[in-house]
Amino acid sequence: MTTLLRNCWYVALPGKDLKPGKMVHKKMLGEPVLVGRHEDGEVFAMRDICPHRGIPLQYGWIEGKDVCCCYHGWKFSSEDGRCREIPSLTEYDDLDISRIRVPTYPCREVQGNIWVYFAEDSKKELDPSTIPPVPTIPDFGKVSPGLSEIIHFACHIDHAIIGLMDPAHGPYVHSSWWWRSGPRKFRVKEKQYEPVPLGFRLVPYEMPVSARPYKILGNKVSIEIVFELPSVRTEILRGDRYSACLLTTITPIDETECIAFQSIYWTIPWMGLFKPLLSLLTRKFLAQDRDVVIQQQEGLVYDPPLMLIDDADTQAKWYFRLKQEYQKAQAENRPFKNPVEPRILRWRS
Ligand code: FES
Repeated sequence: MTTLLRNCWYVALPGKDLKPGKMVHKKMLGEPVLVGRHEDGEVFAMRDICPHRGIPLQYGWIEGKDVCCCYHGWKFSSEDGRCREIPSLTEYDDLDISRIRVPTYPCREVQGNIWVYFAEDSKKELDPSTIPPVPTIPDFGKVSPGLSEIIHFACHIDHAIIGLMDPAHGPYVHSSWWWRSGPRKFRVKEKQYEPVPLGFRLVPYEMPVSARPYKILGNKVSIEIVFELPSVRTEILRGDRYSACLLTTITPIDETECIAFQSIYWTIPWMGLFKPLLSLLTRKFLAQDRDVVIQQQEGLVYDPPLMLIDDADTQAKWYFRLKQEYQKAQAENRPFKNPVEPRILRWRS
């Protein structure tokens, strides 16, 4: 397992879980992060530690565009983190309070998720022109997901990601009475992949007519699956009537745990009626992935050598190569060069 990628956007939480005037503590990439929403709806993120005596700012409150510490009332701008008021100071003090600063993080709400950007060093002030755009799903505009689910994985983010893109675990981990029940029937799969700016994609193809559940999107339904660093997987189904998208992103809590955020978007007007059922099935599906990872940890504590085979594990190999190149390009201060080549992958599942 390799280190956590920086200079990237990660999801902190679904936007619906943060009401105006509220703040929430998150541990992301091992750092204490305070994510808040002003009364006007705008979101912000800053280090969740008061520079005075270290108490988390989450216990304070929001005042206008500032965050106030609960201990001695120091007030910090949520925009640049600078201290704006120390109530105990008198006119005889000459302390330049603007030199006291809480590090802030770029924070945006996009398509219903709140994203936080982690630069190489979170404590340094960032040049805004160096911040890349937030990952966005094409075709879905400014919509929010119809459904959001969150699940905790007790493992390094690399294990969660390669589990996410692993085409061979489905018949074993995701067998339920409502999904692939009965004896396992394997078929040879043959899929074309190609590079995209920060990852790779399954080249869109038309779903076979036998794939009945997809019929609700229309007669001709195509599927496209894209994975991009650091941990963004987008599965888009486009029909001649409707479209749907499953966005999965994984955020490291630290080197040993991570959180998967799953957002489902659709353009089907009546789909909301099936939300409780869809939510139940999505949670069940994610829980199956989580449970197998918990079992895997029992073996990983012995630090065994691990294997990645061709072709079923090729996407995992690509992930590690992409990650390595991303870190190398940044260390050498040069453009990222995608190491993935177009290729057909074949496996049985
Ligand atoms: S600890 Fe925050 S103001 Fe004193």
